[in-house]
Amino acid sequence: MLKAAVEGPPTQAGRPLAAVIENDVVLRRLVVRILERAGFACVAAGDVSDGISALWADPVDVAIVDLGLPGLSGLVLIDHMTAVFPDTAVVVVTGDSSRSTAADAQERGADSYLLKPVAPDQLVLAVDGAIRSRRGTVAAAHKGGAEETVTRLLRVAEARDKETGHHSGRTGRIVAALGEELGLEEVEVQRLRRAALLHDIGKVAVPDEILHKPGPLDEDERAQMRQHVRVGWQILAGSDDPPLPLASVIALAHHERWDGGGYPLGLSGEAIPLEARITAVADVFEALTSDRPYRKALPVEVARSMLIDGRGTHFDPQVVDAFLASDTIGQIIGRGDAATEEGSIADVTLHGARQRAVRVRRDAVPGRVGLGHLHDELDAQPDDRELTTS
Ligand SMILES: [Fe+2]
Ligand SMILES: [Fe+2]
Repeated sequence: MLKAAVEGPPTQAGRPLAAVIENDVVLRRLVVRILERAGFACVAAGDVSDGISALWADPVDVAIVDLGLPGLSGLVLIDHMTAVFPDTAVVVVTGDSSRSTAADAQERGADSYLLKPVAPDQLVLAVDGAIRSRRGTVAAAHKGGAEETVTRLLRVAEARDKETGHHSGRTGRIVAALGEELGLEEVEVQRLRRAALLHDIGKVAVPDEILHKPGPLDEDERAQMRQHVRVGWQILAGSDDPPLPLASVIALAHHERWDGGGYPLGLSGEAIPLEARITAVADVFEALTSDRPYRKALPVEVARSMLIDGRGTHFDPQVVDAFLASDTIGQIIGRGDAATEEGSIADVTLHGARQRAVRVRRDAVPGRVGLGHLHDELDAQPDDRELTTS
């Protein structure tokens, strides 16, 4: 039996701490036993929610994550960890041998990917390697920037609202894919992704009864909700350490609209910083395709059609085009954490070969929310919660 070779900050009486997140009880106990024999302390969880609780309870060095968890996918947990617990290494252990799943997990931030059945020595080697690799990445990221500040602010936000990690992580990934599609340099893409994670940090100042209200907001509540952009800017502005200057701009301007109908300044077109225009598209799409206190998640095709409807009014046309053209976004939204309906997307030419339109099946919308109803809200309430306040 190999022994854990990882050294580092003492946790659990000097031993590195591993979180084993696996729904199969027998396998979970087996992995825990293997790691404990190798010198790790272990906590165990059977689903994403308990896994997140474990991450909050103690500083976890490494998470061993099964992708086939009940309820939310293990991929969602990886998104969450990448955003809120970037110091924790991730080892995926799964029965899914497809290359696309492995690539997806690694693109989301997994350090290592193992197929079941896993030999004990192989597991310990992978866990050790993942911890070392993650520590190197974190040390590099902390040089000359405010990465740690970003992480700790996100934890503040998530301590207030448990949905923050998932929403921020997934929005950040879509933002990065949009940046790539629009031709930004890799270093700019990574800075943009980290900055966008903090777009809603100002919501820490929004009262719970408004933030979690299971229905439409009245005028006064909407005004209070709108304050989150100014509060976010106040929290983040004034630092020279990247990515905080960019994060402050995104926090302030991610609810501006291309046609000038947004807030807080009513900027229009290219007067809105590009990074905020990119975040607006990713933010709205992520919000539409996630459960909210006031409605269920909408199907991907419905959300995509709403982006197309908002092209040139709500959203920068070139950013919507990039969304439709991006293969990476197709991978992000096509598996794991968002359902797609086979046969519901038709590739057609709209404004060029790179654009796609969607054919929407109205009966596919859960909770009896019709597409027409949502379009009415889009027109009547540019600040509608369902579209812009996530
Ligand atoms: Fe927002
Ligand atoms: Fe948001």
